[in-house]
Amino acid sequence: MTGYIMEFLTEYYKWFLAFHVISVISWMAGMLYLPRLFVYHTRLEVGSEASEMFKEMELKLMKIIINPAMASAWIFGLSMAFGQELWGQGWFQLKFLLVIIMSGFHGYLSLWRRQFSQDKNTHSEKFFRQVNEIPAILMIFIVLLVILKF
Ligand code: HEM
Repeated sequence: MTGYIMEFLTEYYKWFLAFHVISVISWMAGMLYLPRLFVYHTRLEVGSEASEMFKEMELKLMKIIINPAMASAWIFGLSMAFGQELWGQGWFQLKFLLVIIMSGFHGYLSLWRRQFSQDKNTHSEKFFRQVNEIPAILMIFIVLLVILKF
């Protein structure tokens, strides 16, 4: 059984890689854009028409792009990782740690989105501007790790 699975993972490796990169691009696009929406949302009056429109944009971005993209980035990434001996390599261990932190950040985005949707946001515009840097910095280090493997 495991033999067949390994054969399947090796045969379709390039396909997994392609879909991994597609998923990662979509995940990152959403993770960089959502905090920007939060920045502008903090300027809007609670209950205003604009605020309600932002709630809908935030919900759709999360449910249609960010959540499915994260799930598929994990599925294709893990499929590639189980097909080869990567777990003992330093660069991969560090990438894995950074990806877990990225997923944790995803969790916080979810929380802040829920708070906005219930008109219970407590964070400032400056706060969202600053946290917007986190996924960008993580992404730079992750890409350097997978490409340079140092
Ligand atoms: C979600 C969990 C993730 C897992 C389990 C994972 C795992 C992997 C694995 C096993 C590979 C193949 C590495 C190799 O054999 O060289 C890979 C490639 C890659 N990953 Fe991820 N990854 C994840 C998330 C990410 C994220 C968040 C990014 C970028 C922000 C990313 C960017 C890349 C890139 C650019 C490649 C292509 C490297 C190449 O072969 O040229 N991955 N990933």
